[in-house]
Amino acid sequence: MREKIWAGRFSKPTEEAMERFSHSLHFDQKLFEYDISVNQAWAQALTEVGVYTPEEAERVVAALADIRSDFIAGALSPSPSDEDIHSANERWLTERLGDLGARIHTGRSRNDQVATDVRLYLLDHLEQLLAALRASLASIVELAKNHVDTVMPGYTHLRQAQPISFAHYMMSLFFQLQRDRERLAQTRTRCSVMPLGAGALAGAAFAVDRHALAQRLGFSAPAENSLDATSDRDLICETVYDCSQIMLHLSRAAEDWIIWSSEGYRFIALDEAYTTGSSMMPQKKNPDSLELIRGKTGRVIGDLVALLTMMKGIPTAYVRDLQEDKEPLFDSVEQTRGSLLIFSGVVATLQVDPQAMRQALDPMLYATDMADYLVQRGMPFRQAHAVVGEAVRLAETRRLSLSQLALQDLQQLSPLFASDVATLFDPLGSLNKRNIYGGTGVESVRRQIETALAFLSKAK
Ligand code: ARG
Repeated sequence: MREKIWAGRFSKPTEEAMERFSHSLHFDQKLFEYDISVNQAWAQALTEVGVYTPEEAERVVAALADIRSDFIAGALSPSPSDEDIHSANERWLTERLGDLGARIHTGRSRNDQVATDVRLYLLDHLEQLLAALRASLASIVELAKNHVDTVMPGYTHLRQAQPISFAHYMMSLFFQLQRDRERLAQTRTRCSVMPLGAGALAGAAFAVDRHALAQRLGFSAPAENSLDATSDRDLICETVYDCSQIMLHLSRAAEDWIIWSSEGYRFIALDEAYTTGSSMMPQKKNPDSLELIRGKTGRVIGDLVALLTMMKGIPTAYVRDLQEDKEPLFDSVEQTRGSLLIFSGVVATLQVDPQAMRQALDPMLYATDMADYLVQRGMPFRQAHAVVGEAVRLAETRRLSLSQLALQDLQQLSPLFASDVATLFDPLGSLNKRNIYGGTGVESVRRQIETALAFLSKAK
C-alpha cells in the first residue's frame, strides 16, 4: 500500500480504526470535479515559479483531465491510504506521471485546497439553488394571477380574521422567497473570492500570481489574508442559513396547505402526483410531499446548528474539526434544492376551490369593516371597536351570525348604524376597501403581481 502523503515523520502506521475515523472520501468526493480544476489551475500557476515547464504543466493538465473521465466512468477506486479526495487525486496523478505528479503540491496545502474546492462547489450549487428558487417563484405568480378575486378567510392565530384574496396569500409567499433569492445572490457574490495560494496558513512561499490564478478559476479576486482564507467557513454557514430560511418559508406554506387541504377546509387539493396513499386505509390521500418538506426543514436547521456549534470554539487557522463542515453543507444544499423542485410542482398542479373558500367566510370576518363604518360616521375607533364587540357578543348569545342581527338591534348599540350596514357583508367589497399599496384589494394585488413579473424578467 502507498504511504500516506504525510507519512515522513511517522514511525508506525495509523491505527485502523483511526484511519476509518478520519476518512472523508466517502463524502468529499462530491468535490472531485472542483479538485481537478483547482489542480489544473495550480499546475499552470507553478510554471510561473519554475516548478513545471509549460510543456510539463500541459501534461499534468491533460493527465488530470484523464483522471476526471476515468473517475466519472467508475474506473478509479480509492485506496485506504487516501484520506480524502485531495490525497486520492494526488495519488492518481503521481501514479500516472511520477515526479511530475509529486510536484503538484508545491507551495500548497490541503487547507487552501479544500477551501478553494468548496468555494467552487458553492458557486456551482448556489446557481442551481437560484434556478430552483426562480422556478418556484414563477409557479407562484402563475397561480396568483388566476385568483386576485378569489376571496378566502384570512387567519391570524389560525382563527378567522379578515377576508383576503387567495392571490394575496400566494404573493406573500412570493415576496418571502424573493428575499431568499436576493440573499442567495449576495452569498454567491461573496463566494467569488479565492483562498488558493494561502498555503497552510501563512501564504505560499512560491510567488504565483494569485490574481491571474483567481481569474483562471472563475473567481473575481484572491482572498486578502491567507490566515482568514484557510480559517474561515463563513460562506458555508451563510449558505446553510440561506437554505434554512428558504426551508422555513416552504415549511410554513406546507403547514398552511396541509390544513387547507384537510377535510375541515377543502380549500385546496394536492394533485395525486404529489400525494401518497395508506397501506391500510384505502380512502387516504396524504400530503406527504408537504410533510416531507416540513420535516426536512428541521434537518436543514439542524445542519446550520451543527455548523455554528462546530465553529464557535475552534482556534484561528485550520483544525480538523473543519472537515465536519461538508456533510451539513452538502445535505442542506441537496435537501433544499429537492424541496424547491417538489414545491414548484405542488404549486403548479394545485387545485383551488374558490367556492369552498367563499362558503367558509364567517360574517364575523367583517367586524373590523363594521367598526370602520362607524368611524366613517364620526365615532372614535376605540369606541367603535367596543360597540361592534357588543354586537358580536349579542350575535353569539342569540346564536346568530353578525350579518343576521336586526338593524334595530344594531341601532340600540349606536344610532349611527343605518340600513347600508348590510352592504358590509360583501367579500369583494371588503377586499376592495384595501387597495392601499400592499393591501389585499384586487388592484393592489395586481400591482404586486406586476412587480413580481418585473423581478422575474430581470432574475433570469
Ligand atoms: N479532508 C480535510 C478537510 O476536509 C482536508 C484538509 C486536511 N488538512 C489537514 N491539515 N489535515 O478539512
